[in-house]
Amino acid sequence: MSTMNIIQVTSEDQLGVEAADFFANFIRNFDGKPNVILPTGFTPLPFYKEIVKRYQNGETYLGNFRYLALDEYLDIPNGDHRSFAAWLGREILDPLNISVDERIVFNSACTNTDAECKRIAQAVKEAGGIDLAIVGIGGNGHIGFNEPGSSFDLEAQRIDLTKETRIANAEYWGCLDKVPRQAITLGIGTLKHANQTLMLATGARKAAALSKTLHGEVCVDVPSTYLQQQGNVTIIADHDALSVKA
Ligand code: PGA
Repeated sequence: MSTMNIIQVTSEDQLGVEAADFFANFIRNFDGKPNVILPTGFTPLPFYKEIVKRYQNGETYLGNFRYLALDEYLDIPNGDHRSFAAWLGREILDPLNISVDERIVFNSACTNTDAECKRIAQAVKEAGGIDLAIVGIGGNGHIGFNEPGSSFDLEAQRIDLTKETRIANAEYWGCLDKVPRQAITLGIGTLKHANQTLMLATGARKAAALSKTLHGEVCVDVPSTYLQQQGNVTIIADHDALSVKA
């Protein structure tokens, strides 16, 4: 039985407000500058909109964190506008004036992916680990780009994206053929040491995976089930995402 704290919302706007309240409380109560993972995807957009609005209305403490990248496509130039680093920059990091020095990001053009995995895992450790990991969930239960079958012990990994994930990202790239086939991600071996985790999920496409996250057997076939073994997990989800019961 899971002990995750679930906040059910009725709209995307409400998800944005609840997630922003959670984030604001976390930043306000943190002693120092926390290391925070932020997700890409469509789900967190209302959250980013709400945070940027509050920041622009004077809540500048919301920009007091160091950003740790969760995942990134491979084989694209650094700074490519479709990279996750650029995407997060546009949606939240630039509006909050998070300086480039305060962003620990992947090298999307790296040629030695093993070395890049080691470098990023080390960089996260040297920064002091993850204080808050905010993540989404894939329809197949992936967290970051830890696709089904990913070991729970890997600190970071290069991954071949599943067709399901590439289809889910095709809109962002224009068409399926353009979606990169490989990516790099912090592994569950790193994510499971986060002091706190906040997961955001909306829509019926996430319902089966979310149900397994909460009630299923902990197994690598559903990567998100690692959360059952962690304390301090909050899930903000809408009715559709929570529509499959145990
Ligand atoms: P989405 O992506 O928010 O676009 O659904 C989430 C994910 O795949 O992790």
